[in-house]
Amino acid sequence: MAKKEKLPEEDINLPYNHGALMNQDSDQLLVNDGDFMVVMKMNPELNRLQPYLAVRLKKGIRRYEIKRNSTSAKLATKSAPNIGKLIDVLQKDTVEIKGEKVILKRAIAKGKFQLMHKDVDFKKKLGSGAYGTVYRGRLVKTNTKIAVKKLDTEGNDDEALAEMMKEARVMQLYDHPNIVKFYGYILDDIPYLLVLEFCNGGSVEDTLVEKGAKLDTRTRITFTYHAACGIEYLHKKKCIHRDIAARNCLIHKDIVKIADFGLCRATSVYKVDLNKPTNIRWLAPEVWDIGETKANTDIYAFGVMMWEYFEVPYDTPYSAWKGYMVKQKTRGGYRLPTPSAMPPEMEEIMKECWQVDATKRPTATELREKLEETIAKGENSGTSGLEKSKSQTSAK
Ligand SMILES: Nc1ncnc2c1ncn2[C@@H]1O[C@H](COP(=O)(O)OP(=O)(O)O)[C@@H](O)[C@H]1O
Ligand SMILES: [Mg+2]
Repeated sequence: MAKKEKLPEEDINLPYNHGALMNQDSDQLLVNDGDFMVVMKMNPELNRLQPYLAVRLKKGIRRYEIKRNSTSAKLATKSAPNIGKLIDVLQKDTVEIKGEKVILKRAIAKGKFQLMHKDVDFKKKLGSGAYGTVYRGRLVKTNTKIAVKKLDTEGNDDEALAEMMKEARVMQLYDHPNIVKFYGYILDDIPYLLVLEFCNGGSVEDTLVEKGAKLDTRTRITFTYHAACGIEYLHKKKCIHRDIAARNCLIHKDIVKIADFGLCRATSVYKVDLNKPTNIRWLAPEVWDIGETKANTDIYAFGVMMWEYFEVPYDTPYSAWKGYMVKQKTRGGYRLPTPSAMPPEMEEIMKECWQVDATKRPTATELREKLEETIAKGENSGTSGLEKSKSQTSAK
């Protein structure tokens, strides 16, 4: 990356400097007439963030560029040695900017999810997915272990920001043991980052690959149950995840947590662009006809994920087929063969998840209840299907 001139720390550290917060997010925070904050926008020519004063006037929100050089910050007729002092000057009385009277009344400070680069430390790469690279790190102040997700952008920082904020907006709303905890986002400079709870066990997919037949059936059932609890929580919050798969579930201290909210939407129905690449192997076949994803398409994906959880050795669903074949076959009614290590109770649940009639699929709550029953049955009788298939798995 070309060497760039950064804003001085004193400007970046202002409590009301929200960094590259997008307009739609800052608009929500500027509630009353006179509410203001500093935001920054990427100037691609200079490859640096340019400061703006965002303020709500009676007629709407305005954003004024602040001219900053190494010795001064200027806006309209006012000038000061730095942005903080400039704001102090502007707050003293009404200023006229572009023919409108502007009064700065209340500085809006950053929220608890807005962290800064100096708050985190990260180096070691943990993994990468379709959209980004994830690093292991820590929160400097508390030494808390974290995962830092950086979107791979090929220099298009605005697009990365838009994608990242979709993930941040939904993740902020959740707090559940089976959902990866969200600590915050970082916008004070590029690269923009998401900060998440660190999961020491990595992804379920990696665990399935590494442990192979050593992973017992009981654990596989427990993992399925945890994931169902996470999805139930999301669906109750009227969110659809849209990327349920073993690679997007993480393990922390033997608890499975749903992760990767890159495609998640806080809505009950979401139109999809079928020309864009999708997770075809987990995609409910009716989506090709109706062009919509819903809670019951998450449930279909959950069924495919159950298959992943039990297939030994781990394999990608329909690994012998290219994507278009998967699409053609599943639309024709074909479904994955039941893994040999899967107990009949689990097979039944899996098949319900991928019924052709989407309305007949269990809800996430029903799914969680069925799994709870299965676990209870397994605990009450030592010779249940669970135990039988457990010995089958270990005999493999
Ligand atoms: N919180 C985390 N703790 C530990 N590893 C993680 C964490 N988040 C992601 N990873 C690792 O990074 C990979 C990609 O993360 P993911 O959120 O799925 O990114 P993408 O949106 O690019 O698919 C995961 O499969 C996992 O191996
Ligand atoms: Mg992923």
